[in-house]
Amino acid sequence: MEFQEVIRKRRMHRQFDPDRSVPRELVERIVTNGTRAPSAGHSQGWGFLVLESPEDRATFWDVTNRPGQEEATGSPSMHTAPVIIVPFAHKQAYLDRYAEPDKGFPANYEARWRIPHWYVDTAYASMTMLLSVVDAGLGAIFFSVRDPAPLREAFGVPDAFDPIGAIAIGYPVPAQPARRGRKEPDEVVHWGRW
Ligand SMILES: Cc1cc2nc3c(=O)[nH]c(=O)nc-3n(C[C@H](O)[C@H](O)[C@H](O)COP(=O)(O)O)c2cc1C
Repeated sequence: MEFQEVIRKRRMHRQFDPDRSVPRELVERIVTNGTRAPSAGHSQGWGFLVLESPEDRATFWDVTNRPGQEEATGSPSMHTAPVIIVPFAHKQAYLDRYAEPDKGFPANYEARWRIPHWYVDTAYASMTMLLSVVDAGLGAIFFSVRDPAPLREAFGVPDAFDPIGAIAIGYPVPAQPARRGRKEPDEVVHWGRW
């Protein structure tokens, strides 16, 4: 697909065809494209949990929607998505990378990071995956995960990895028009002076 068309078509989909699975090679291409994202110091402090089987997906929705959690994860219509990718940020990879000789910071020097780039870079990776989804003729939704602990426990994720959200992917059913309009570039772009 032509790049400008990918950008134009990208939007979040919240409902998926339950009878169409996503071919493995497309899932591999999407998640591999996630690893092409930029990262500070080329730290690549991220990890991606890919869930495809009905059992794993049911477990995901169960552990992220337990009673007592602050807010439900995703709306029920998203539960038909045949693929879920959970992008995790790994802060320690940045602290370790920036303690290497070419960077020269003290070990575990978190104060260096005014912006926590482990989250920024994992978001870049999420965006390359979202664009790859569109390029593959699929749809996706990025949504929040409120409580990481049960998710980590269910899938054996080390505590050092923090989920920045989750991406549900599938063949979208026709979407409702967006409720909130997109801001015009003039409202947010400042040329030369704010
Ligand atoms: C960090 C982040 C968290 C989001 N969380 C949710 C969510 O929990 N549930 C949901 O339905 N949409 C969620 N969205 C989707 C946004 O609502 C959506 O991107 C926005 O309305 C713009 O629409 P568009 O992406 O279709 O252009 C999230 C998006 C981002 C970037």
